[in-house]
Amino acid sequence: MSAIDVKPCDGVGAEVLGADLSGDLTNSEFATLRDAFSEYGVIFFRDQTLSPEQHIAFARRWGDINVNRFFKPVDGYPQIAEVRKEPDQTANIGGGWHTDHSYDVEPAMGSILVARDVPEKGGDTMFANMYAAYDALSDGLKETLNNLKAVHSSRHIFGDESVAYTKDSDIGNRLGNSDAATQDAVHPVIITHPLSGRKALYVNMAFTLRFDGWTAEESKPLLDYLYTHACAPQFTTTFKWKPGSIAFWDNRATWHYAINDYHGQRRLMHRITIEGCALH
Ligand code: SIN
Repeated sequence: MSAIDVKPCDGVGAEVLGADLSGDLTNSEFATLRDAFSEYGVIFFRDQTLSPEQHIAFARRWGDINVNRFFKPVDGYPQIAEVRKEPDQTANIGGGWHTDHSYDVEPAMGSILVARDVPEKGGDTMFANMYAAYDALSDGLKETLNNLKAVHSSRHIFGDESVAYTKDSDIGNRLGNSDAATQDAVHPVIITHPLSGRKALYVNMAFTLRFDGWTAEESKPLLDYLYTHACAPQFTTTFKWKPGSIAFWDNRATWHYAINDYHGQRRLMHRITIEGCALH
C-alpha cells in the first residue's frame, strides 16, 4: 500500500501528495507515480528538496536521460539543462505552446522541471491536455486525422536562422550548438500513447511544419484549427511555481507554455529530459 495521494487538477494533470522524491521510492510508490503520469499527463509535486544528484537519480528511475543538444547545462551536470531568465533579459525559454522534442524520430518521453529560483509573482507554466483535445474532436475529423502524418523539425527553432539568434532577441545567449539543429521527423497526427494506450493529438505550433504530403500552405488552416482547439481553457491548467515545486510532464500527452510576465525578476529552473520511443 502506498500513502501517496493523487489529486486530479481541472483540465490536465494531477498534484501528488505524500511523495518524497529525494529518497528511494518503494516499487509500490513508483507504480502510483507511473500510473498518475500515464493517466493525467503531468504530475506536480510541492516542497521537495532535491539536490542535482537526487534529481538525476529520480530521472533515471524512469529511463535514460537525454542530454539536451541546445540548452546550456548546469555547471558540472551535463544531464541537467538550465531554463534561465535573468532580471535584465526579456525573452524566455518555452514562451509559446509546444511539446518538446517532436522533431526527434524517437521523441523524448518527458521532462522533470525543478524550481530553483522563482519570481515573487508570475512565471507560471500552463499545460494542455492532448488526450482531451483528441476526445473532443468530431468523429469525422478524428477519422481524417487518423490517416495523416505530420512533419516536425528543429531547424527553424534552434538553427542559425531561428529568431533566437536575431539581434532583437536576447535568448541566443542561453542556447547554443545551432549547427546541431538538423532533426526532421514524421509522426502520426493521432498517436496511441505508449503507456496509457489512449489516443492523443500529436502536432504542436512550435515544431510541426505541415502534414506529410501536403504543402505548408495547404496544412496551415487545419493546423491552425487544431492549435486553437487544443489549448481551449477546458483542456488546460496553470501551475504556480513555489520554491521546491516540481512538474513532470509527458510530451506525448500534453503541451506546455512558460508565461513570460516577470521582467526584472530572476527565474531559474533545472530540467532533466527522459528518452522516449517511436510513436505509432
Ligand atoms: C520548457 O519549455 O521546457 C520550460 C518550461 C518552463 O520553464 O516552465
